[in-house]
Amino acid sequence: MHTGSAARGPKPLRQRRVRPRFWLLDFYGSAVGKKAVMAVTGILLLGFVLAHMLGNLHLYEGSEKMNHYGEYLRTIGSPILPHSGALWALRTGLILALVLHIHSAVTLTLMNRQSRPVGYKGGRDYLAANYAARTMRWSGIIIAFYLLFHLSDLTWGTGIAATDEFTRGEPYQNLVASFQREPVAILYIVANVLLGLHIYHGAWSLFQSLGWANPRFNHWRRGFAIVFAAIIVVGNVSFPVAVMTGLVE
Ligand code: HEM
Repeated sequence: MHTGSAARGPKPLRQRRVRPRFWLLDFYGSAVGKKAVMAVTGILLLGFVLAHMLGNLHLYEGSEKMNHYGEYLRTIGSPILPHSGALWALRTGLILALVLHIHSAVTLTLMNRQSRPVGYKGGRDYLAANYAARTMRWSGIIIAFYLLFHLSDLTWGTGIAATDEFTRGEPYQNLVASFQREPVAILYIVANVLLGLHIYHGAWSLFQSLGWANPRFNHWRRGFAIVFAAIIVVGNVSFPVAVMTGLVE
């Protein structure tokens, strides 16, 4: 008499079940994926920094225009969206882009270190890597600290950077009061020059990261990176300089 299991034949070997991972996570796990994420989030952040600088040019139109612009940003989409609804959607996207930008940069650095534990013999090839490229990590870290200082100063109005005069809804007065503190104005200038270096190299290398690196277009890429970084630096540095020189009061 056959037993039930013998009739069904030998039991197949139990196979280890490999849980399929979502393809996007697999992609992000590779160096190519991390570079692509860094480039795409970098493009979003470049868009924000340009729009922010252009918006801040309202400073030169006086208090009423600038404060009105600040309020306008909070009313975009109303009455369909609640007050500040669109602004919060934008903030959420921006925070997500920033977190992914930093995470991909940090994990890519760790990945590179693991695959090259000994380091470069005789140091890095400093001839090939220009100054902006070599300082990407440091400029990135300093910009992150600057951003926290800046938010405390002009958005939250509390913490080490804020002035006693901070009033919500009055960005013009807040900005002037902040830059009337000379060390703070100088800190903004230094941070924005560093930001310019970061943007210059980022805007240049994002084409490479996305696979658009035909050497025939190298001079266009360099030209774009220089012009974009220069526009941001000149615009942003002009604000503290305008307050320090009394052009804006
Ligand atoms: C000198 C240059 C800059 C000036 C004068 C400036 C000015 C301002 C002002 C006045 C606000 C508050 C706006 C409001 O509440 O209505 C603000 C917010 C902000 N700034 Fe700047 N900014 C400068 C550079 C930058 C840079 C370089 C970055 C990014 C790296 C940046 C990121 C932000 C962010 C994320 C906010 C918060 C936006 C929000 O959530 O409402 N700013 N800035």
